[in-house]
Amino acid sequence: MAVAYTVRDGIAVITLDNPPVNGLGASTRLGIVEGIERARDDASISGIVLIGAGKAFSGGADITEFNTPKALQEPSLHTVIKAVEGSAKPVVAAIHSVAMGGGLELALGAHYRVAAPGAQIALPEVKLGLLPGAGGTQRLPRAVGLETALNMIVSGTPVLSEKLGGTGLFDRIVEGDLLDEAVKFAKQAGAQSGPHPKVRDRKIEHPNAEGFIQFARNSVAAIAKNFPAPHKCIDAVEAGVKNGFDQGLAFERECFLALVQTPESRALRHAFFGERAASKIPDVPSSTPVRKIERVGVIGAGTMGGGIAMNFVNAGLPVTLLETKQDALDRGVATIRKNYEAQVKKGKLTVEKLEERLLLIKPTLAYDDLAQADLIIEAVFEELGVKDQVFKRIDAVAKPGAILASNTSTLDVNKIAAFTKRPEDVVGMHFFSPANVMKLLEVVRGEKTAKDVLATVMQLAKKIRKTAVVSGVCDGFIGNRMIEQYIRQALFMLEEGALPAQVDRAIEKFGFAMGPFRMSDLAGNDIGWAIRKRRYQEQPDLHYSRIADRLCETGRFGQKTGAGWYDYKPGERNAQPSKLVDEMIVAYSKEQGVARRKISDEEIVERLVFSLVNEGAKILEEGIASKASDIDMVYLTGYGFPLWRGGPMLYADTVGLYNVERAMRKYAAQPNGDAWKPAKLVTELASQGKGFTS
Ligand code: 3HC
Ligand code: NAI
Repeated sequence: MAVAYTVRDGIAVITLDNPPVNGLGASTRLGIVEGIERARDDASISGIVLIGAGKAFSGGADITEFNTPKALQEPSLHTVIKAVEGSAKPVVAAIHSVAMGGGLELALGAHYRVAAPGAQIALPEVKLGLLPGAGGTQRLPRAVGLETALNMIVSGTPVLSEKLGGTGLFDRIVEGDLLDEAVKFAKQAGAQSGPHPKVRDRKIEHPNAEGFIQFARNSVAAIAKNFPAPHKCIDAVEAGVKNGFDQGLAFERECFLALVQTPESRALRHAFFGERAASKIPDVPSSTPVRKIERVGVIGAGTMGGGIAMNFVNAGLPVTLLETKQDALDRGVATIRKNYEAQVKKGKLTVEKLEERLLLIKPTLAYDDLAQADLIIEAVFEELGVKDQVFKRIDAVAKPGAILASNTSTLDVNKIAAFTKRPEDVVGMHFFSPANVMKLLEVVRGEKTAKDVLATVMQLAKKIRKTAVVSGVCDGFIGNRMIEQYIRQALFMLEEGALPAQVDRAIEKFGFAMGPFRMSDLAGNDIGWAIRKRRYQEQPDLHYSRIADRLCETGRFGQKTGAGWYDYKPGERNAQPSKLVDEMIVAYSKEQGVARRKISDEEIVERLVFSLVNEGAKILEEGIASKASDIDMVYLTGYGFPLWRGGPMLYADTVGLYNVERAMRKYAAQPNGDAWKPAKLVTELASQGKGFTS
């Protein structure tokens, strides 16, 4: 039963009981209406309390029902709220923990609201590419005032119940037992003659509503560039201000139904569920015990080690940071301090917190100091020989049950595990640079990695606020394996007729934060060069354009050398197209006997994005990733793929795999077409009319 009906002291108590968050799915909606009717028909009942069981009043409409017939099934949320609001017996919403979206809208339909302190109150629909669709844009401004309401609706950010205590939203903030207090409140209200107050009947008072609405519109302009929802939120509030409640409500409904069909909303919902799905590993049940992680060791205080250490001390976990030499250790600690000082300057951290965090870091040169660590993460040079030495030393000092992790980005985690006598305790934890900022963490599952090690690392990832995605062992794991194909295409296109600025512009217009050449200049062109040199040895048959090697041979490693695919003025990061490099590219094509042609922006985008899709499909086929949404989460959180497109795999589904496969076959017939054999999974799904995510 999604809703329970009980009676206490002459008050009907309607309890939403639909775990995990009392989503307002079809059966919950029906249960509420039935409860209201039962209370209406029972003469011994003088009032009604609406309350939530478990960890929420309600998290809102059931998002899993969107775009299914259940979402529209009566009673709709509108009908439910109408029943609540129209009840002759007073309805008191009793709110604890979470009242979000449709949950808050339901509460706004009640005649009275009491709340426990600490409850998160929000209309977060905008974060799903929507607007509140059950009266939120109309009732919230009438309850908390235009400014607070608009801020809440366009940001979607939760506000604590006690902060809204002084507004017209809550009749009482109750410290004691919520249900007791709500029943008491309902009894008092029931003793008074009706009609009981309705939020819809209140006026929206504001000295300059039009001016504030315009101000709100200007403030969302930047975030609304690629999302239609924020402007629609404002339009709907404005409609209510100008034309009254009923017309406002009708307009809100119209906008909701349109937004729920948009690719942007689909993408945001995909990301919402993708993030939660990523933490679930098919053969590692949620009941898997986890190991206690209270102390962390980090080996290597370079670019990555320092950032990795910061993640843990930010979460309050002490870190022992180990280096081979005192000067490297001092440099590492100084960089960490500098990073924290920059946060202090921006007002994001207090000086006290900075000192507190630095005190949690214990720098050392002695491996014995790692003996008490529950987790040791290695971030030393990317050479198998060095990893061998380091893992043997860790193995010798680490306590039994400690998790031993490597931050390697290209090496075989199974080989690294085999350097120890406890391969089941070894796992890859692939952070992205800057490690203290980037959300993504690829958790690399070795052949022998124990399930409880995986469960522990996934839980820990939440604690340090990372989006963790599990990858099997392969060259480059999920993200870098796919990006290699993308870079390969980018280089082929230079050889065939494009220039770096055109390629970057086209893909940035598609929505990537940074095109491949600006990205490569930022990361350092020498990194890709080193990987390619290895490839030429390992896979001599793999066809590569050598144009990037030419660039590297001239020492143009990118921003760090002041020149790469672009020119950089000293001290500046602005990429200026380089005449020299462009001429070098044209000369290279000539040397290869390639007649340069005009490559359209459409072709650039397709070749870059579909190369990700094809490799992503192979990664799924091989079981390196367990689901398509994991790949999308990697690209959304680690590679700047546009959020409003939902990641490469969802994007492919949106285009339609039939069309994607056709494009692949077209490119296969062109020069440099050997990269374009469609993955078996693409062909299979396309022929069945299916997608990766459906
Ligand atoms: N519908 C369906 N499932 C939901 C849900 C919802 N509204 N909200 C949360 N869930 C599910 C999650 O998918 C997750 O499922 P899982 O355990 O199978 O992975 C589970 O509930 C727990 O969620 P979290 O892991 O996020 O738990 P937290 O305790 O960290 O957070 C929360 C709880 C604050 C409610 C958070 O889940 C959240 O922000 N949910 C989204 C709320 C939202 O956007 N509501 C608006 C919905 S749209 C709407 O109401 C339209 C209306 O205007 C008509
Ligand atoms: P880095 O060169 O900045 O830092 C490596 C540090 O390890 C140096 O400070 C060095 O003194 C120290 N070190 C070397 N041998 C050691 C040993 N035996 N014991 C203790 N310390 C030792 O390198 P970076 O960039 O931090 O990379 C570290 C690891 O992280 C590599 O495996 C790399 O592939 C991986 N990685 C790097 C990313 C990046 O963007 N830089 C991204 C993701 C992973």
